[in-house]
Amino acid sequence: MHTRKLFIGVCLAIGMSSVQGQQTAIMGRNNIPDAPSWVADAVFYQIYPQTYYDSNGDGIGDLNGIILKLDYIKSLGVTAIWLNPFFESPFNDAGYDIRDYYKVAPRYGTNADAQRLFQEAHKRGLRVIFDYVITYTAIDHPWFVESCKGTPNKYTNWYVWNDNAWKMEEGEFANRFIQGYGQRNGNFMRNFYWSEPALNFGFGKPDSSKAWQLPTHHPDVVALREELKKVFCFWMDMGADGIRADMAGALVKGTDVNGDTKTFWKEIRQIIKEKYPQAFMVSEWSYPKDALDAFHADFFHWFDGYNDLTQKESWRILNGYSEGHSFFDKEGKGNIAYFLSKYMEQYSETKSKGYIILPLGNHDNARMNVNRTPDDLELIIAFGITMPGVPFIYYGNEIGMRQLYDMPQIEGAYRPRAGARTPMQWTLGKNRGFSSADFSKLYLPVDTGNDAPNVETELKDPASLLNRVKKLIHLKHTEPALAAYAEFTPLYAKENTYPFIYSRTHGSDVLLVIINPAEKPAKAEFQINVPREKFQLLAGKKMVINKKGNTISVDAPGISFSVYKLK
Ligand code: NOJ
Ligand code: CA
Repeated sequence: MHTRKLFIGVCLAIGMSSVQGQQTAIMGRNNIPDAPSWVADAVFYQIYPQTYYDSNGDGIGDLNGIILKLDYIKSLGVTAIWLNPFFESPFNDAGYDIRDYYKVAPRYGTNADAQRLFQEAHKRGLRVIFDYVITYTAIDHPWFVESCKGTPNKYTNWYVWNDNAWKMEEGEFANRFIQGYGQRNGNFMRNFYWSEPALNFGFGKPDSSKAWQLPTHHPDVVALREELKKVFCFWMDMGADGIRADMAGALVKGTDVNGDTKTFWKEIRQIIKEKYPQAFMVSEWSYPKDALDAFHADFFHWFDGYNDLTQKESWRILNGYSEGHSFFDKEGKGNIAYFLSKYMEQYSETKSKGYIILPLGNHDNARMNVNRTPDDLELIIAFGITMPGVPFIYYGNEIGMRQLYDMPQIEGAYRPRAGARTPMQWTLGKNRGFSSADFSKLYLPVDTGNDAPNVETELKDPASLLNRVKKLIHLKHTEPALAAYAEFTPLYAKENTYPFIYSRTHGSDVLLVIINPAEKPAKAEFQINVPREKFQLLAGKKMVINKKGNTISVDAPGISFSVYKLK
């Protein structure tokens, strides 16, 4: 059990000065140095290519399938797409394990399809970023095949090997080495699964008694880095709009005294500045204070406060264990103050450097919909859209797709990931409109429930989650105070208490967001130093709100949220 720090973010007043500036349109303005202007009101949509839409009936989604669905994607109001890996791969880790960085996996199509996808997206004003996975390769990547050979060659040092097959490493690197593979007398280091050998970015502080630990400036390390920059430019020249960098903090091994992991990413940023000035780089680092020295944005994800938002109940149901409670569970036992203490630690120090992304669901987590209703889900999405930074919506969450149980643990998915990677549900028809293949041929089974949430049904219902989500996305484009960079101030965030209230401000615009995921109604009283008396409801439920002087009191019904504009 972690020690819970008391969060002192309660009753912070908004400074008068922050509401006296000039109102500025969202687009085209940015307070982050050299961040692309389009990101200020961007909403991303994450697509898992294998399960989005199968256009040729082989049971696996493909790039052409995504192209066919671009009009739907555009209609959501999102402005950009993050595509999970679509490269040639043996698929031991769903395509994160790349065997050819320069080639689309045949099951998804061809490089020409990728190029067409970028072009067709651009025609609709959508940008596309790709997964740049460079901390390791697939076990059968030709570079690794060469590196395994007993005779020295160009690739010998491109991976991290020790120099004695009988010698297991101890300390920091214990359990990271794989023994007994290839003809070379040594063990190789993995970066994630055993079949994902770590590419060699060198050691920050090489141990002088271990000659195999190369320094980060070793010519072979430098050659590898240059090759990986070529990979980046290859896809950017093909038409991509940026990257999501997998395990971005895991390049240099050991203590990175010179910060060379960041140095590499800064070099990529420099290439962006010079060659692709509107490109966006996002990291999976989960420590914005480090990541934002180089990246425009960081997924703040792998920290325990994250699970305190939506995932605890899911883990309990799926795996039978999980300590504590999530704030967004209706039992009302969560603790937003704990999450916020972690968040503010990062936000306060990075808000002028880059953006924090809170991934409310992705391919590595259970779906948001584990025993949740559309009302519960809308509220979580409202939170995601109104927090600072850039919202990412995982495919299917806009219609409330459910986490599926007892899925085959294919391609290294494992529970709960497989149950969150199932085919998109387009209709109630065969295979839920995902594919014309036989059910048994599908990449993963579809949700077979008669009540499976699906696009066709929800489009017809004005009160559906899909239509509510569209309205929330729309707000992000029309409200300057929801710009990625607009100021965030927690106003009511108490230990083990509901609701959670915060403001977003930009220029003369002030929004108040009130969120009560608990079944029980909740009351709050807090201070706000803004000379406005009227509250215009922009989204959610009308609440009873009173303002006397600087004191506001709110009665929030059970399972409710509202976004108010102060007038
Ligand atoms: C994070 C990716 O999102 C995940 O799916 C993958 O398994 C690991 N990194 C290893 O790349
Ligand atoms: Ca297909």
